[in-house]
Amino acid sequence: MNIELIDLQPAVADLVQLVWDGLQHQPRQLPAWLLYDAEGSRLFSQICEQPEYSLTRTEIALLEKHADDIANTAGSGVVVEFGIGNARKVDPLLAKIQPPAFVALDISRSALEQSLAGLATSHPSTAMVGICCDHSSLTDLPDHPRLNGQRRIGFFPGSSLGNFLHDDAVRVLRQFRQLLAGGPLLLGLDQPRDPIALEAAYDDAAGVSAAFARNLLCRLNKDLQGTIDPQQFQYQATWQDAEQRIEMALVSACEQTIDLAGETWTFQANERMITEHSVKYSPAAAADLAAQSGWCIKQRWHDCDDSFSLHWLEPAD
Ligand code: AVI
Repeated sequence: MNIELIDLQPAVADLVQLVWDGLQHQPRQLPAWLLYDAEGSRLFSQICEQPEYSLTRTEIALLEKHADDIANTAGSGVVVEFGIGNARKVDPLLAKIQPPAFVALDISRSALEQSLAGLATSHPSTAMVGICCDHSSLTDLPDHPRLNGQRRIGFFPGSSLGNFLHDDAVRVLRQFRQLLAGGPLLLGLDQPRDPIALEAAYDDAAGVSAAFARNLLCRLNKDLQGTIDPQQFQYQATWQDAEQRIEMALVSACEQTIDLAGETWTFQANERMITEHSVKYSPAAAADLAAQSGWCIKQRWHDCDDSFSLHWLEPAD
Protein backbone atom coordinates (compact mmCIF):
# COMPACT_ATOMS: atom_id res chain seq x y z
CA MET A 1 0.00 0.00 0.00
CA ASN A 2 1.09 3.58 -0.76
CA ILE A 3 1.62 4.62 2.93
CA GLU A 4 4.65 5.99 4.76
CA LEU A 5 4.87 6.86 8.48
CA ILE A 6 7.34 9.31 10.00
CA ASP A 7 7.66 9.25 13.80
CA LEU A 8 8.35 12.60 15.52
CA GLN A 9 6.63 11.74 18.85
CA PRO A 10 7.89 13.70 21.87
CA ALA A 11 10.35 11.72 24.03
CA VAL A 12 9.28 10.48 27.50
CA ALA A 13 11.54 13.11 29.11
CA ASP A 14 9.50 15.87 27.38
CA LEU A 15 6.31 14.24 28.66
CA VAL A 16 7.59 14.29 32.27
CA GLN A 17 8.41 18.01 31.98
CA LEU A 18 5.01 18.80 30.45
CA VAL A 19 3.16 16.95 33.19
CA TRP A 20 5.26 18.58 35.93
CA ASP A 21 4.59 22.03 34.46
CA GLY A 22 0.87 21.28 34.15
CA LEU A 23 0.54 19.97 37.72
CA GLN A 24 2.39 22.96 39.15
CA HIS A 25 0.13 25.38 37.28
CA GLN A 26 -2.74 26.97 39.25
CA PRO A 27 -5.32 25.64 38.51
CA ARG A 28 -3.65 22.41 37.45
CA GLN A 29 -3.95 21.91 33.70
CA LEU A 30 -2.55 19.30 31.31
CA PRO A 31 -2.16 19.73 27.53
CA ALA A 32 -5.24 18.45 25.67
CA TRP A 33 -3.24 16.36 23.20
CA LEU A 34 -2.31 13.98 26.06
CA LEU A 35 -5.91 12.73 25.90
CA TYR A 36 -5.25 11.00 22.58
CA ASP A 37 -3.43 7.73 23.25
CA ALA A 38 -4.90 4.69 21.43
CA GLU A 39 -7.75 4.31 23.96
CA GLY A 40 -8.37 8.08 24.05
CA SER A 41 -8.63 8.18 20.25
CA ARG A 42 -11.09 5.27 20.36
CA LEU A 43 -13.20 7.03 23.02
CA PHE A 44 -13.12 10.30 21.09
CA SER A 45 -14.53 8.48 18.03
CA GLN A 46 -17.36 7.29 20.31
CA ILE A 47 -17.99 10.86 21.55
CA CYS A 48 -18.49 11.87 17.91
CA GLU A 49 -21.34 9.32 17.69
CA GLN A 50 -23.18 10.57 20.80
CA PRO A 51 -26.55 12.22 20.13
CA GLU A 52 -25.59 15.29 22.20
CA TYR A 53 -22.33 15.90 20.24
CA SER A 54 -23.52 17.12 16.84
CA LEU A 55 -20.30 18.91 15.81
CA THR A 56 -18.82 16.00 13.80
CA ARG A 57 -22.05 15.10 12.00
CA THR A 58 -22.67 18.75 11.11
CA GLU A 59 -19.15 19.23 9.78
CA ILE A 60 -19.18 16.02 7.69
CA ALA A 61 -22.56 16.98 6.18
CA LEU A 62 -21.16 20.43 5.31
CA LEU A 63 -18.02 18.95 3.74
CA GLU A 64 -20.08 16.52 1.66
CA LYS A 65 -22.55 19.18 0.58
CA HIS A 66 -19.91 21.72 -0.47
CA ALA A 67 -17.11 19.39 -1.62
CA ASP A 68 -17.30 20.60 -5.27
CA ASP A 69 -17.21 24.25 -4.29
CA ILE A 70 -14.40 23.72 -1.78
CA ALA A 71 -12.36 21.71 -4.33
CA ASN A 72 -12.78 24.49 -6.92
CA THR A 73 -11.66 27.06 -4.37
CA ALA A 74 -8.72 24.85 -3.30
CA GLY A 75 -7.23 24.18 -6.74
CA SER A 76 -4.43 21.63 -6.93
CA GLY A 77 -1.72 20.69 -4.46
CA VAL A 78 -0.82 18.35 -1.65
CA VAL A 79 -3.45 18.21 1.13
CA VAL A 80 -2.02 18.56 4.66
CA GLU A 81 -4.38 17.70 7.53
CA PHE A 82 -3.57 18.72 11.10
CA GLY A 83 -4.99 15.95 13.35
CA ILE A 84 -6.53 13.18 11.27
CA GLY A 85 -8.77 11.44 13.84
CA ASN A 86 -10.77 8.76 12.04
CA ALA A 87 -10.30 10.40 8.60
CA ARG A 88 -13.97 10.68 7.72
CA LYS A 89 -13.77 14.41 7.14
CA VAL A 90 -11.03 14.53 4.57
CA ASP A 91 -12.51 11.74 2.48
CA PRO A 92 -14.89 13.89 0.35
CA LEU A 93 -12.12 16.45 -0.22
CA LEU A 94 -9.62 13.84 -1.41
CA ALA A 95 -12.27 12.45 -3.76
CA LYS A 96 -12.76 15.88 -5.39
CA ILE A 97 -9.25 17.39 -5.19
CA GLN A 98 -7.45 14.12 -6.08
CA PRO A 99 -4.11 15.36 -4.74
CA PRO A 100 -0.83 13.60 -5.62
CA ALA A 101 -0.22 13.19 -1.87
CA PHE A 102 -2.07 13.48 1.41
CA VAL A 103 0.01 14.33 4.49
CA ALA A 104 -1.64 13.67 7.87
CA LEU A 105 -0.24 14.89 11.19
CA ASP A 106 -1.53 13.30 14.38
CA ILE A 107 -0.26 12.54 17.87
CA SER A 108 -1.78 9.04 17.82
CA ARG A 109 0.22 6.53 15.79
CA SER A 110 -2.63 4.00 15.88
CA ALA A 111 -5.12 6.60 14.57
CA LEU A 112 -2.70 7.46 11.73
CA GLU A 113 -2.12 3.82 10.79
CA GLN A 114 -5.80 2.91 10.74
CA SER A 115 -7.00 6.08 9.00
CA LEU A 116 -4.33 6.10 6.31
CA ALA A 117 -4.90 2.40 5.55
CA GLY A 118 -8.62 3.12 4.98
CA LEU A 119 -7.92 6.21 2.85
CA ALA A 120 -5.25 4.41 0.78
CA THR A 121 -7.85 1.83 -0.26
CA SER A 122 -10.41 4.42 -1.38
CA HIS A 123 -7.84 6.83 -2.93
CA PRO A 124 -5.25 4.56 -4.59
CA SER A 125 -3.71 7.29 -6.74
CA THR A 126 -2.90 9.52 -3.72
CA ALA A 127 0.32 8.79 -1.78
CA MET A 128 -0.35 8.71 1.98
CA VAL A 129 2.23 10.17 4.37
CA GLY A 130 1.60 10.11 8.13
CA ILE A 131 3.63 12.20 10.56
CA CYS A 132 3.21 11.16 14.19
CA CYS A 133 3.80 14.39 16.14
CA ASP A 134 2.34 17.16 18.30
CA HIS A 135 1.41 19.40 15.35
CA SER A 136 0.93 22.40 17.65
CA SER A 137 4.68 22.59 18.20
CA LEU A 138 5.99 21.49 14.80
CA THR A 139 7.92 24.31 13.13
CA ASP A 140 8.71 22.65 9.78
CA LEU A 141 7.32 19.77 7.76
CA PRO A 142 10.03 17.17 7.16
CA ASP A 143 12.03 17.41 3.96
CA HIS A 144 10.15 14.85 1.85
CA PRO A 145 9.96 14.17 -1.91
CA ARG A 146 6.12 14.14 -1.76
CA LEU A 147 6.12 17.68 -0.35
CA ASN A 148 9.08 19.40 -1.93
CA GLY A 149 8.06 21.98 -4.53
CA GLN A 150 4.33 21.22 -4.11
CA ARG A 151 1.67 23.79 -3.29
CA ARG A 152 0.18 22.92 0.14
CA ILE A 153 -3.53 23.01 1.00
CA GLY A 154 -4.08 22.89 4.78
CA PHE A 155 -7.08 21.31 6.49
CA PHE A 156 -7.76 21.78 10.21
CA PRO A 157 -11.26 20.46 10.88
CA GLY A 158 -13.26 19.50 13.97
CA SER A 159 -12.95 22.86 15.75
CA SER A 160 -9.69 21.52 17.16
CA LEU A 161 -8.35 25.08 17.21
CA GLY A 162 -10.91 25.63 19.99
CA ASN A 163 -8.81 23.38 22.25
CA PHE A 164 -6.15 26.13 22.39
CA LEU A 165 -6.57 29.30 24.41
CA HIS A 166 -6.28 32.62 22.58
CA ASP A 167 -2.49 33.17 22.55
CA ASP A 168 -1.79 29.55 21.65
CA ALA A 169 -4.47 29.62 18.94
CA VAL A 170 -2.74 32.65 17.38
CA ARG A 171 0.64 30.90 17.67
CA VAL A 172 -0.71 27.69 16.08
CA LEU A 173 -2.36 29.55 13.17
CA ARG A 174 0.85 31.51 12.54
CA GLN A 175 2.80 28.28 12.60
CA PHE A 176 0.39 26.63 10.15
CA ARG A 177 0.91 29.60 7.85
CA GLN A 178 4.64 28.85 7.95
CA LEU A 179 4.14 25.08 7.50
CA LEU A 180 1.84 25.64 4.51
CA ALA A 181 4.41 27.95 2.87
CA GLY A 182 1.94 30.37 1.27
CA GLY A 183 -0.85 27.80 0.75
CA PRO A 184 -4.46 28.23 2.01
CA LEU A 185 -6.14 26.66 5.04
CA LEU A 186 -9.65 25.20 5.41
CA LEU A 187 -10.55 25.67 9.09
CA GLY A 188 -13.60 24.10 10.77
CA LEU A 189 -14.90 26.02 13.80
CA ASP A 190 -17.84 25.37 16.11
CA GLN A 191 -19.90 28.43 17.12
CA PRO A 192 -21.38 29.53 20.46
CA ARG A 193 -24.97 28.40 21.10
CA ASP A 194 -27.34 27.37 23.92
CA PRO A 195 -25.11 26.69 27.00
CA ILE A 196 -27.31 23.80 28.16
CA ALA A 197 -26.92 22.03 24.82
CA LEU A 198 -23.18 22.73 24.84
CA GLU A 199 -22.69 21.37 28.36
CA ALA A 200 -24.64 18.23 27.40
CA ALA A 201 -22.45 17.82 24.28
CA TYR A 202 -19.39 17.73 26.56
CA ASP A 203 -20.95 15.56 29.28
CA ASP A 204 -23.10 13.04 27.40
CA ALA A 205 -25.63 10.86 29.19
CA ALA A 206 -23.79 7.65 28.22
CA GLY A 207 -20.70 8.86 30.11
CA VAL A 208 -18.30 8.63 27.13
CA SER A 209 -16.95 12.17 27.63
CA ALA A 210 -16.27 11.36 31.30
CA ALA A 211 -14.51 8.11 30.34
CA PHE A 212 -12.43 10.04 27.76
CA ALA A 213 -11.22 12.48 30.43
CA ARG A 214 -10.55 9.74 33.02
CA ASN A 215 -8.58 7.78 30.43
CA LEU A 216 -5.99 10.57 30.69
CA LEU A 217 -5.34 9.41 34.27
CA CYS A 218 -4.95 5.79 33.10
CA ARG A 219 -2.51 6.97 30.43
CA LEU A 220 -0.47 8.90 33.01
CA ASN A 221 -0.40 5.82 35.30
CA LYS A 222 0.88 3.73 32.39
CA ASP A 223 3.39 6.13 30.84
CA LEU A 224 4.67 7.88 33.97
CA GLN A 225 4.43 5.17 36.66
CA GLY A 226 1.46 6.80 38.38
CA THR A 227 -0.74 5.60 41.24
CA ILE A 228 -3.88 7.59 40.41
CA ASP A 229 -7.30 6.03 41.07
CA PRO A 230 -9.42 7.51 38.22
CA GLN A 231 -12.62 6.88 40.20
CA GLN A 232 -11.42 9.39 42.82
CA PHE A 233 -11.90 12.17 40.22
CA GLN A 234 -15.26 13.44 39.00
CA TYR A 235 -15.70 14.81 35.51
CA GLN A 236 -17.19 18.29 34.96
CA ALA A 237 -17.94 20.28 31.79
CA THR A 238 -18.91 23.92 32.36
CA TRP A 239 -19.82 26.71 29.90
CA GLN A 240 -17.81 29.88 30.69
CA ASP A 241 -19.74 32.68 29.06
CA ALA A 242 -17.15 35.46 29.35
CA GLU A 243 -14.57 33.33 27.58
CA GLN A 244 -17.10 31.71 25.19
CA ARG A 245 -15.78 28.26 26.00
CA ILE A 246 -16.48 24.93 27.65
CA GLU A 247 -14.02 24.02 30.38
CA MET A 248 -13.55 20.29 31.03
CA ALA A 249 -12.01 19.23 34.32
CA LEU A 250 -11.43 16.28 36.64
CA VAL A 251 -12.32 17.24 40.19
CA SER A 252 -10.68 15.48 43.12
CA ALA A 253 -13.38 13.66 45.15
CA CYS A 254 -11.36 13.96 48.38
CA GLU A 255 -8.00 15.09 49.71
CA GLN A 256 -5.52 12.62 48.24
CA THR A 257 -1.87 12.15 47.32
CA ILE A 258 -0.71 10.50 44.14
CA ASP A 259 2.69 9.46 42.83
CA LEU A 260 3.45 10.47 39.26
CA ALA A 261 6.59 11.00 37.22
CA GLY A 262 8.82 10.43 40.25
CA GLU A 263 7.04 13.03 42.43
CA THR A 264 4.27 12.97 45.05
CA TRP A 265 1.36 15.37 44.39
CA THR A 266 -1.35 16.37 46.85
CA PHE A 267 -4.86 17.21 45.63
CA GLN A 268 -7.31 19.00 47.94
CA ALA A 269 -10.95 17.88 47.97
CA ASN A 270 -12.76 19.59 45.02
CA GLU A 271 -9.49 20.71 43.44
CA ARG A 272 -9.81 20.88 39.65
CA MET A 273 -7.40 19.60 37.07
CA ILE A 274 -8.36 21.08 33.70
CA THR A 275 -8.13 18.52 30.92
CA GLU A 276 -9.33 20.70 28.03
CA HIS A 277 -10.97 23.92 26.91
CA SER A 278 -13.19 24.09 23.86
CA VAL A 279 -13.50 27.70 22.70
CA LYS A 280 -16.42 28.51 20.38
CA TYR A 281 -15.97 31.14 17.67
CA SER A 282 -18.66 33.34 16.16
CA PRO A 283 -17.84 34.34 12.53
CA ALA A 284 -16.72 37.78 13.79
CA ALA A 285 -14.46 36.24 16.46
CA ALA A 286 -13.01 33.88 13.83
CA ALA A 287 -12.25 36.82 11.52
CA ASP A 288 -10.49 38.65 14.39
CA LEU A 289 -8.42 35.61 15.27
CA ALA A 290 -7.45 35.04 11.62
CA ALA A 291 -6.39 38.69 11.26
CA GLN A 292 -4.23 38.47 14.40
CA SER A 293 -2.56 35.36 13.00
CA GLY A 294 -1.63 36.66 9.53
CA TRP A 295 -4.59 35.12 7.70
CA CYS A 296 -7.64 36.52 5.95
CA ILE A 297 -10.98 34.68 5.74
CA LYS A 298 -12.08 34.69 2.09
CA GLN A 299 -15.11 32.42 2.27
CA ARG A 300 -17.37 30.67 4.76
CA TRP A 301 -19.68 27.66 4.45
CA HIS A 302 -22.10 27.01 7.32
CA ASP A 303 -25.03 24.77 8.27
CA CYS A 304 -28.66 25.98 8.25
CA ASP A 305 -28.63 26.71 12.03
CA ASP A 306 -25.35 28.63 11.56
CA SER A 307 -23.82 26.59 14.41
CA PHE A 308 -20.66 25.47 12.62
CA SER A 309 -18.47 27.10 9.96
CA LEU A 310 -15.89 26.00 7.45
CA HIS A 311 -13.67 29.03 6.87
CA TRP A 312 -11.40 29.42 3.86
CA LEU A 313 -8.22 31.25 4.93
CA GLU A 314 -5.51 32.70 2.74
CA PRO A 315 -2.27 34.37 3.89
CA ALA A 316 -3.04 38.06 4.54
CA ASP A 317 -0.22 39.40 2.39
C1 AVI B 1 -11.11 17.58 19.33
N1 AVI B 1 -11.95 18.66 19.90
C2 AVI B 1 -12.30 19.61 18.89
C3 AVI B 1 -13.07 18.21 20.71
C4 AVI B 1 -13.93 19.43 21.12
O1 AVI B 1 -15.10 19.45 20.75
O2 AVI B 1 -13.42 20.35 21.75
C5 AVI B 1 -12.55 17.48 21.94
C6 AVI B 1 -13.62 16.97 22.86
N2 AVI B 1 -13.44 16.70 24.12
C7 AVI B 1 -14.53 16.23 24.67
N3 AVI B 1 -15.45 16.21 23.75
C8 AVI B 1 -14.89 16.66 22.61
